[in-house]
Amino acid sequence: MSEKYHIVTYGCQMNVHESEKIAGILCRMGYENTNEISEADIIVFNTCCIRENAENHAFGNIGALKKLKKQKPNLLIAVGGCMTQEKGKTDVLKKKFPFIDIMFGTLNLEDLETLITRKKAQKKKVIEIREKEGEIVEFSDAYRTSYPNAWVNIVYGCNNFCTYCIVPYVRGRERSRKPEYILAEVKQLVAQGYKEITLLGQNVNSYGLDGTTGMNFAQLLDAVASIEGDFRLRFMTSHPKDFNEEVVKVMQKHRKICRLVHLPVQSGSNSILSAMNRRYTREKYLDEIKMLRSYLPEAEVTTDIIVGFPKETEEDYLQTEALVKEVDFASAFTFVYSPREGTKAATMDGQIPEEVQKDRIMRLVELVNSLTRKKSEKYVGKEVEILCEDYDEKKGLYLGRDEFGRMGYFPCEHNCIGEFVRVKIARANGISLFGEICKD
Ligand code: SAH
Ligand code: SF4
Ligand code: F3S
Repeated sequence: MSEKYHIVTYGCQMNVHESEKIAGILCRMGYENTNEISEADIIVFNTCCIRENAENHAFGNIGALKKLKKQKPNLLIAVGGCMTQEKGKTDVLKKKFPFIDIMFGTLNLEDLETLITRKKAQKKKVIEIREKEGEIVEFSDAYRTSYPNAWVNIVYGCNNFCTYCIVPYVRGRERSRKPEYILAEVKQLVAQGYKEITLLGQNVNSYGLDGTTGMNFAQLLDAVASIEGDFRLRFMTSHPKDFNEEVVKVMQKHRKICRLVHLPVQSGSNSILSAMNRRYTREKYLDEIKMLRSYLPEAEVTTDIIVGFPKETEEDYLQTEALVKEVDFASAFTFVYSPREGTKAATMDGQIPEEVQKDRIMRLVELVNSLTRKKSEKYVGKEVEILCEDYDEKKGLYLGRDEFGRMGYFPCEHNCIGEFVRVKIARANGISLFGEICKD
């Protein structure tokens, strides 16, 4: 009987896709997936450290394994991801959880096989974290678990050093993948029947800016969208300092590209944006939205917002509210600022008390939800094209998303996962839509 693996993933889409690569490595080694943690012979934690609660979450789950490890001494516990790349974090992990067997970083994912083999031959734990990014390692055998959606990396790392953010410290400098690899990967995915491709980067707009690829992001997007086949194309994340007309023109040229842009604004106040080192103003952001909608009036925008950044006043916060209303976001991820050791903002004066942060986040969430609800209501009575992604056992309904990322549920007599279906929306419940497949 073959040995089994179980992967626990925290954090962003980048990590979700990296877990697919880790699964690919484990499958190649002969392991099989199990959803039952107690059945696993190796458990891999792919961690995130973007906010304190992401770390606490992982700490809690790793700690909970102490008992299982005692019962199953041959069980291997491996920890990778952004947390292990944090300065001094492997020492903290070693002290807190002496039963961890293997630690690896985001910059040496590909070493996992060697590290496992090494660990199996020795008693001592194996810790190997690469400190500086090297050449991009191409993975050909990610074990994808998200059919009909597939993620494709285009640029790794980040050079922006937003003052609150730990990503540049744990993901290294920007490196762009060669276009020929990206195009070959997408072609293969489309041939395999994947219906939604998302190009991934911390800042997709910086693709190729290092001069190593022969094309910029807009040109790459154009080339990917020119691949024949019936699929949707998305990209994230766009950075407002670099998002531009050239990209929007490519979107307009190809109907395959979803009319949805994830454009994190973070704050509506210029003084906060400047303290965050975001390198754009509120006015520039609003101009970009205007530009986008002048080409594509139907375009929707989603965003990320942080409240309670150091020195954020009530007036600053209200400017964020006003911007949210003005842009009329389709949805927004909202966060309370979390100081990250080693970042510039963590030592800034004027840290905001927790009760003020809590009050602001509650008001903002309420505002964002009200916009989302209003948008949901507008869907009622309309026909939308949904890419069916899954079946919800509890509801007894299939589900999928429209091009704006809105979730829709509907009954279907056959298994339609991976199909584009036209659904007439009968009702909306919060952010979810419910309807019936249109009979033509
Ligand atoms: N590269 C993307 C997003 C990276 S992280 C970008 O530049 O937009 C995803 C989101 O987490 C960020 O957009 C930000 O809103 C949030 N975030 C990052 N660091 C944070 C921190 N220290 N506290 C709270 N939220 C944070
Ligand atoms: Fe973090 Fe800013 Fe880079 Fe995004 S652009 S990953 S927020 S440093
Ligand atoms: Fe993503 Fe978290 Fe790392 S958001 S890049 S997994 S710190």
